[in-house]
Amino acid sequence: MKSLQDIRSVSVCALTPADTEAYRFVRLSALREQPPAFGSLPEDEPNLSDTAVRLEESDDRCFFGAFQNEQLVGIIRISRYSAPNEKHRAYLAGLYVLPSFRCHGCGKALIHEALSWAANATGIKRVNLTVVTQQEAAIRLYQSFGFRTYGTEPETFSRGGQFYDECLMTLALNSDNDRNA
Ligand SMILES: CC(C)(COP(=O)(O)OP(=O)(O)OC[C@H]1O[C@@H](n2cnc3c(N)ncnc32)[C@H](O)[C@@H]1OP(=O)(O)O)[C@@H](O)C(=O)NCCC(=O)NCCS
Repeated sequence: MKSLQDIRSVSVCALTPADTEAYRFVRLSALREQPPAFGSLPEDEPNLSDTAVRLEESDDRCFFGAFQNEQLVGIIRISRYSAPNEKHRAYLAGLYVLPSFRCHGCGKALIHEALSWAANATGIKRVNLTVVTQQEAAIRLYQSFGFRTYGTEPETFSRGGQFYDECLMTLALNSDNDRNA
């Protein structure tokens, strides 16, 4: 995992229902961006009240936000798989930083917090994610945390007549996270 040296100016914390409107604004920006980094469609995004429920505290998932001068400028979520025999895995998703706030360490700080959450959660041994193959900045960032690509899923989704492939990436957490596994 990367050091925190160059990400001190960014403040990252777990989001709560109080952040619903700001979260939804950033999330919809993510889903509308071109070229697409996400397969989800803006029209399928939960409404405000359902979003607030998703942001409630849970042992099995957490949404984090990056703030600059109290403005939410970046988001990420991490969730534990729900099946009893898959609870040792978590899924990292929805990483997005508003374009004018990029290259200031927000993405790095968000991933750092999400991985810390997984490392502190009982029994999580592995974190997986998928990322559109064209999203080179994201892929490089994930690699810097030790994620490795174990496959490519072709034509995961289509947008505007074009098909997009996704890299499948995985990271094994340290073995000292095995307590109570
Ligand atoms: C990927 C993304 C979140 C990075 O956010 P960011 O705040 O700009 O990232 P950081 O400033 O923390 O950059 C950290 C690292 O990312 C990589 N990176 C960031 N921008 C980059 C770029 N334009 N080109 C290449 N690498 C880049 C570098 O490795 C960088 O490390 P360095 O500063 O030591 O060189 C942002 O570009 C984004 O929102 N992209 C669109 C959404 C997306 O692709 N999400 C992934 C979904 S799975």
